[in-house]
Amino acid sequence: MLSYRHAFHAGNFADVLKHIVLLEVLDYLAQKEKPFCVIDTHAGAGKYALDSDYALKTREFDTGIAQLWQRDDLPPSVANYVNLQKRFNANAQFKHYAGSPLLIKQLLRAKDKLHLFELHSTEVGLLKTTMKNDKRVQIEHTDGLKNSLALLPPIERRGLVLIDPSYEMKSDYANVVKTLIQMHKRFATGTYALWYPVIDRARNQTLESTLQKSGITNIQLFELGIVADNSVRGMTASGMIVINAPWNLVTTMQTVLPWLTETLGENGAGHFRVETLVTEK
Ligand SMILES: C[S@@+](CC[C@H](N)C(=O)[O-])C[C@H]1O[C@@H](n2cnc3c(N)ncnc32)[C@H](O)[C@@H]1O
Repeated sequence: MLSYRHAFHAGNFADVLKHIVLLEVLDYLAQKEKPFCVIDTHAGAGKYALDSDYALKTREFDTGIAQLWQRDDLPPSVANYVNLQKRFNANAQFKHYAGSPLLIKQLLRAKDKLHLFELHSTEVGLLKTTMKNDKRVQIEHTDGLKNSLALLPPIERRGLVLIDPSYEMKSDYANVVKTLIQMHKRFATGTYALWYPVIDRARNQTLESTLQKSGITNIQLFELGIVADNSVRGMTASGMIVINAPWNLVTTMQTVLPWLTETLGENGAGHFRVETLVTEK
């Protein structure tokens, strides 16, 4: 039974980092004329109302996008992300948060493709409404971890797989790594972006070391924490593990992450990581 609803979390500090990295990868893919394909294995509803009961119950957007909305001193990648979010808000009013499917759709060109998977029946209904009919976009109401494998390698031979699970079960950590290894065997030149939360650091250490031993090369990690690791807060940090990242992503994140740490960290307790887990061959 799936109980996770991203509406409680939309726009939090984890979404900020995840969506900045996502946009950077897409910008890079769009620099070449050749078409690309994006697979979003855990798509969510696509768009979230920031004044909904869900969003207002937790006000998680206060840890993230709300602190960036009015600023005029954002680093370029952060400004790009906030400006894209403002496109979904008439008169730049702080009302809606665009999730990964809608952000990706903004960057698709006529020949690019987007495959979205969403398992929750309510979320997939909302996703279909949000995405409207678009020949470039396919939505599947199935398990994205299992069924995206069949799409690899994509005909375009260029692309990104975004894996953004809700980690409702501890086994999700092992499953995502297993799937990533299978995906990489089919499409070794693709870019993969795996989102992870830090709730219990030991689980992250296992995830990282399993990937390091997997045989996959060229793996970068980008993490933002807003409070020190602890066992009572829930998610204290989160990150993106990127395989075959664009060449300039590390340099970009070396500027963006210290800025986000300073801006979103609570009482000076922010922290970040920019690390190479495995070098390029
Ligand atoms: C973190 S949310 C996705 C947020 C979205 N990627 C974004 O950035 O806006 C995770 C979503 O995955 C869905 N989900 C959970 N397990 C899934 C699976 N095996 N296949 C596809 N979707 C799944 C959940 O219902 C939830 O909507």
